[in-house]
Amino acid sequence: MGFLSILSYTRTCVEERVKEGDIVIDATVGNGNDTEFLAQLVGETGCVFGFDIQENALYSTRSRLERTELLGRVTLWQKSHSRMVESLPSNLCEKVSAVMFNLGYLPGNDHQLVTTPDTTLPALISSLYLLKKGGIITIVLYTGHPGGQEEADSVLDWVRQLDQARYHVLRYQFFNQKNNPPFLLAIEKR
Ligand SMILES: C[S@@+](CC[C@H](N)C(=O)[O-])C[C@H]1O[C@@H](n2cnc3c(N)ncnc32)[C@H](O)[C@@H]1O
Repeated sequence: MGFLSILSYTRTCVEERVKEGDIVIDATVGNGNDTEFLAQLVGETGCVFGFDIQENALYSTRSRLERTELLGRVTLWQKSHSRMVESLPSNLCEKVSAVMFNLGYLPGNDHQLVTTPDTTLPALISSLYLLKKGGIITIVLYTGHPGGQEEADSVLDWVRQLDQARYHVLRYQFFNQKNNPPFLLAIEKR
């Protein structure tokens, strides 16, 4: 078997840490691929919270979850992920098993509507607060669009200074691919 793709490896990391009944967050819902994946993992007794600023993204995700009969375990907000703590139930500090970020723009939609460090970094800080021990934050970063490299640099600067006694940080990347390949940063709370 060859190396897992960035997205497959991201899912493997999440799958290993999320079980039936868990609480998880999709910080960038988009077309709902990750939301659906998370909803399957947490099962009927679990709960997925999702954020996206685009109405059409949430509309297509809702339709998708209705078709797959998973909507009952998912709560979606048309809000920036930087507002996650104020939006979620108040008792979730260190209760969340996984937070997934897939940064950049929504393929097939407005390429101007991208994630930016001014909201991505506050959302990551909130995610650390919500994450339980043994839980994981995954961040897939793209550098090929305007602003993408700056956002990746900001996130890299931020993860570099995380205390290694409290967090493991992993980078997964194909080094010799052309055309700005995406890469994964994963943070595990120890
Ligand atoms: C690469 S796409 C996500 C793809 C998605 N995970 C999927 O499975 O289809 C990035 C998404 O982030 C959203 N986004 C941009 N800024 C955001 C913000 N501040 N808070 C939440 N979502 C945001 C965009 O609207 C876009 O849908």
